[in-house]
Amino acid sequence: MTKRIETLKVIDNKQIKKDFFVIELAAGGKIPEIKPGQFVEVKVENTPGTFLRRPFSVHDVDYDKNSIKLLVQVVGNGTQTLSEMAQGDHINLIYPLGNCFSLPDAGERSLLIGGGCGIAPMLYLGKFLKNNGFVPDILVGFRNSERILEYSEYKKIGEVFITTEDGSEGEKGFVTDHSMLTSRNYEMIYCCGPEAMMKAVAKYCKKKRIACEVSLENLMGCGIGACLCCVVETVNGNKSTCIEGPVFNINDLKW
Ligand SMILES: Cc1cc2nc3c(=O)[nH]c(=O)nc-3n(C[C@H](O)[C@H](O)[C@H](O)COP(=O)(O)OP(=O)(O)OC[C@H]3O[C@@H](n4cnc5c(N)ncnc54)[C@H](O)[C@@H]3O)c2cc1C
Ligand code: FES
Repeated sequence: MTKRIETLKVIDNKQIKKDFFVIELAAGGKIPEIKPGQFVEVKVENTPGTFLRRPFSVHDVDYDKNSIKLLVQVVGNGTQTLSEMAQGDHINLIYPLGNCFSLPDAGERSLLIGGGCGIAPMLYLGKFLKNNGFVPDILVGFRNSERILEYSEYKKIGEVFITTEDGSEGEKGFVTDHSMLTSRNYEMIYCCGPEAMMKAVAKYCKKKRIACEVSLENLMGCGIGACLCCVVETVNGNKSTCIEGPVFNINDLKW
């Protein structure tokens, strides 16, 4: 798939929760086909210490508007600068990057699991699945009710189940503690979030013999396979997360 370097215009930047922003960027012309799970590398201008581009999952795509959305959590200088971008500002991207999630087989039931900002790639994946005749369930985990992200958007895709670590919304605990896992069966689980969460989900899937793909968020430098700083150990040797990932089948990872 052809990658491009392109400057897009900020057409919206909405703060959805403390430290979380959804930025919508429009291309001047037709945007390329973007597959769920793919990511972009963002050039953060005029910010000290952000020489390298920053990777973000594609949160949503609107082919009519030729726009894409990013869900950004402010954790440092680069994301702080992005959170301050205003309508009419421009952001340079390399995109679309990486591989993508695979579709389930016909009739298979799927579950999307997202933890914290790891829900970012699940919105576009959920819409993609729905457009292809699948109605996934969605299980999301957050620290507390103040940090629940995009609930109304995920509700449009399928049934949403919530866990919070402090029990302030949904069931108390981690996603793997949710009672829905004991009452529903799935053939495919997709997951993105903190590594500890993804490992717990992988362990659950292996025990239950459920196919599972996870999207890794390893630290990245170039995003295009040149620097090798994103390498992950797999059963078939070391792989670059930016080229051969970020989506991996759990059976390929040494987890
Ligand atoms: C494939 C991929 C997809 C991603 N998708 C999203 C997304 O949709 N939304 C989002 O908000 N973030 C996402 N991230 C993480 C995001 O790239 C980083 O948070 C961002 O680069 C931090 O930049 P910064 O300059 O603000 O912070 P920095 O000053 O670079 O770092 C601040 C802190 O964040 C930590 N950090 C930086 N990058 C990562 C990372 N990849 N994983 C864990 N900790 C990190 C640093 O170690 C440091 O402690 C993704 C990362 C990858 C690899
Ligand atoms: S980020 Fe440079 S090789 Fe993956």
